[in-house]
Amino acid sequence: MQVLGVVAVILAVYCVHAKIYFREEFLDGDEWRSRWVNSKHKSDYGEWKLTAGNFYGDAEKDKGLQTSQDARFYAASARFEPFSNEGKPVVIQFTVKHEQKIDCGGGYVKVFPDDLDQTAMHGDSSYYIMFGPDICGYSTKKVHVIFNYKGKNHLIKKEIKCKDDELTHMYTLILNPDQTYEVKIDNEKVESGSLEEDWDFLPPKNIKDPEAKKPEDWDDNAKMDDADDTKPEDWDRSENIPDPDAKKPDDWDVDMDGEWEPPMIPNPEYKGEWKPKQVDNPNYKGPWVHPEIDNPEYSADSNIYKFDKISVLGLDLWQVKSGTIFDNFLVTDDVKEAEDITNETWGVTKEPERKMKQEQDDLKRKEEEEKTKEQDTEVEEDGEDGEDGDDEDDEIDEEEEEDTKDEMEEALSEMDEEEAKLKDEL
Ligand SMILES: *[C@@H]1O[C@H](CO)[C@@H](O)[C@H](O)[C@H]1NC(C)=O
Repeated sequence: MQVLGVVAVILAVYCVHAKIYFREEFLDGDEWRSRWVNSKHKSDYGEWKLTAGNFYGDAEKDKGLQTSQDARFYAASARFEPFSNEGKPVVIQFTVKHEQKIDCGGGYVKVFPDDLDQTAMHGDSSYYIMFGPDICGYSTKKVHVIFNYKGKNHLIKKEIKCKDDELTHMYTLILNPDQTYEVKIDNEKVESGSLEEDWDFLPPKNIKDPEAKKPEDWDDNAKMDDADDTKPEDWDRSENIPDPDAKKPDDWDVDMDGEWEPPMIPNPEYKGEWKPKQVDNPNYKGPWVHPEIDNPEYSADSNIYKFDKISVLGLDLWQVKSGTIFDNFLVTDDVKEAEDITNETWGVTKEPERKMKQEQDDLKRKEEEEKTKEQDTEVEEDGEDGEDGDDEDDEIDEEEEEDTKDEMEEALSEMDEEEAKLKDEL
């Protein structure tokens, strides 16, 4: 009994305690520099800047790593205690804010095994998982979910759209030990399914039987010629006939021009090739289906999801227009804890951030409206100056104005007269 009780307590404690392998929210000033390692693989990687950006929900909490130079590669990573996700879910999440109106650039993370040399990290460094948004032009706006399986990277076969506005968004990947997964954006599920179905990790379970052949006498014609149908006797007409309206020209000289023949024209009675009526084929067996057999190359693998010594989270990207801010990195085994943390971080700051941006946008629009107004009045003033210098035009304008005034008065008085007449008649 006692032992059972202890086990129960241990289990309970074990169950409520989420394991957080990595959490980075950049809340301690410049200390992040001691945790993040810049790669030296290239000499001209872009600089990271710690900032909350131009608008935010909280000036301190929203500080994150921002790409600060255009058209650069970026490569930095942070290490944590190695762990295996065997038998447990693993959640990877972080926020991305493309406040620069990104045109082309990565917004994803890579998760590496512990043997990664962080100072040498680059595009071809082998990783376990790549996850997050990627934007380039109008055509590429997707969330990558790439898993390494037996040394090869496999891309998800589904298309997951990413956010392309300027606000902060939370991207979450959940990988479960039952080989299912879920992708969330801003805490809402945008995709889910099974590893085996949504990636090509394994060869197909079944293949077409190489031994099977369509039997020679397999009749897969649904219709056949009607044997009772015969060609009507008057069917055959030649396709072209001599033009009955053509006449031999008067000056036709048989000696010189040869025997006269009328030109040929299409025969209006011509019916084309005769084909018998089609009827149902009594021997029709339906389309032949190639029988399948188990693929000898296939063997089930219930450990596709499993990674050993997960130990580094890296940002390895290219950006054309810089300005993306990464924040709120989290790697945990607890789906609910990850959701709680999302709510406590992004959930709290998203609304004030949206407001601040809205206010900035409104202000900018007002300023632009003022500017166009000023420009308009300047244009008007310029116009008046021009008129002053041109007396002749002024005179003509005045004369024209007088003319129209006279015409108006005339018209009005005519109307008055008409009205008076009408009244008289009544
Ligand atoms: C997070 O916030 C959403 C929206 O307010 C809520 O529906 C959800 O239950 C919250 N999740 C947790 C784990 O508290």
